[in-house]
Amino acid sequence: MSYELPKLPYAYDALEPHMSKETLQYHHDKHHRAYVDKFNKLVQGTKFEASPLGYVVKHADKGPLLNNAAQALNHAFFWHSLGPDRGGEPDGPLMDAIKKANGSFADFKKDFSEKAAGLFGSGWVWLVKNPDGGLDILQTANGDTPFSGESRPLICCDVWEHAYYIDYRNDRAKYVEAFWKLADWEFAQDNFTAGADEEQRSTTHPMQRKGQHPHHPPSPR
Ligand code: FE2
Repeated sequence: MSYELPKLPYAYDALEPHMSKETLQYHHDKHHRAYVDKFNKLVQGTKFEASPLGYVVKHADKGPLLNNAAQALNHAFFWHSLGPDRGGEPDGPLMDAIKKANGSFADFKKDFSEKAAGLFGSGWVWLVKNPDGGLDILQTANGDTPFSGESRPLICCDVWEHAYYIDYRNDRAKYVEAFWKLADWEFAQDNFTAGADEEQRSTTHPMQRKGQHPHHPPSPR
C-alpha cells in the first residue's frame, strides 16, 4: 500500500498575495510529491511497508527512509498550518499558554520569527506542546521533525528555500512576515486542545482529527 500525496486543503491561488500560486504548484506538486514518491520507493520491502507515516517517523532509524517519511509528514502538516483569510491571533487556552510561555503574543511572534529567519540552512520552526502542557518554539534542521519525539506540533513554518524563493527570493524574513498573515490558529488551537485519545491519532494520522475544519480533508491513509 503506498502513501498518497495529500491534496492541498485549498486552491493553489488561495494564499495569494502572500504565497503565490506558482510557489504552491512547485512546493506541493514538485517538492512535497518528491518526498512522497521517494518514501514509497524506499519503504518497499521494509517492515514499515504498511505503517502510517507517523509510525515510521517515530520508529525508523536515521537515514533516507526516515528523512523522506518526515518530510512527507512535515509538509502535510504545513499545508494545514496555513489558510486563506487566516493570520491574526489565537484566543482561548492556546493564547493563555502562549502568554504564559512568552509573556505576550508579540514576544512569541518575535521569538518565532527570529528562530525562523535565523535557522542556518534548511529546516522548520514549530510551536509545540510539551508533555507537561507547556509550549516551546523548536527549530529542526533539514528533515528532522518533532513528530519523532514526545512534543505535539501545533503549527509550523517551512523555512527551506523552496518555500519562498519564487515569491521573496532570498529574503526569508519577508517570507516569515507573510507566514503570519496565513497562520491558521484554529488548526493550532485544535491541536493544542486535542484529547489524550486523539494524541495518538494525531501522531499517526495528523490530518484525521475530530473537529477538523471543513477544509481539512481526511488523509487518504
Ligand atoms: Fe518544503
